[in-house]
Amino acid sequence: MKNKYPIGILDSGIGGLIIAKEIKIQMPNENLIYFGDNINMPYGNKSKKFIVDNAIKIISFLYEKKCKALVIACNSITSNALDIILEKFKNKILIFNVIDPIIKNNILLSYKKIGIISTPSTIRSNFYFNKIKYYYHHLDIVQLSIPLLAFFIENDFNIKKIIDYIRNYLIHLRSIDILILACTHYLYIKNEIYKFYKKKVYLIDIQKIVVEEIKKKLIKKSLLSLKDKSDIQYPIFYHTSNKNNFFQKKVQLLFGNKVFIEQHKFN
Ligand code: DGL
Repeated sequence: MKNKYPIGILDSGIGGLIIAKEIKIQMPNENLIYFGDNINMPYGNKSKKFIVDNAIKIISFLYEKKCKALVIACNSITSNALDIILEKFKNKILIFNVIDPIIKNNILLSYKKIGIISTPSTIRSNFYFNKIKYYYHHLDIVQLSIPLLAFFIENDFNIKKIIDYIRNYLIHLRSIDILILACTHYLYIKNEIYKFYKKKVYLIDIQKIVVEEIKKKLIKKSLLSLKDKSDIQYPIFYHTSNKNNFFQKKVQLLFGNKVFIEQHKFN
């Protein structure tokens, strides 16, 4: 039965783990295979070609693992490579991303000025800007890239240092009433950003909205895994870097010890 097959999730590192965790919360019977390309991190500072080539490699790998669906849990990959990925894989496998469910969510209707913070490659793509402009004529958009933020989060930088670093960026986004954390790594510091704005800016609940959308679609396509504990396996987490201490720590913090963590090297 195809609904027993795993869901594949990819990101450049630990960012997508937050989406994976939410999948386990909302759909506890799903098996997961995660891929964090941490040796090549940050994707946000790479060219479009680099992002496309690497995303295709990872997706082909997950496809070979017989995933029933793929979640691109990375804004930099989605905004730079989604069209090419869809062209190559859409007839083979169900593909989700972390941007479209947010754009299509009615929540954006209630606000006037939206801020978007993200990696340089996501901002450069104008993926958010063009889509929001298209669907929401009333919204003012301010977008800002924060070049080193995802790297600092991936490499376990001290939170105080991170806040000092982002303060200089966020002061330029003062008059907004809603903010999109358009990089999955930033979801780890959502509370700190919320505090910076003295809780006066609405921060979208990205993982919840994204996973609700995935669940809806899996149900519609009869692909949701139904309750049968014997079918549930330990989730598998692939990473590409030799130095994986922090990756492993994050995996275990979110998923416990009943996990497989493995290094994968592409030839
Ligand atoms: N987590 C990725 C995203 O959502 C990017 C991190 C990186 O730059 O590698 O954009």
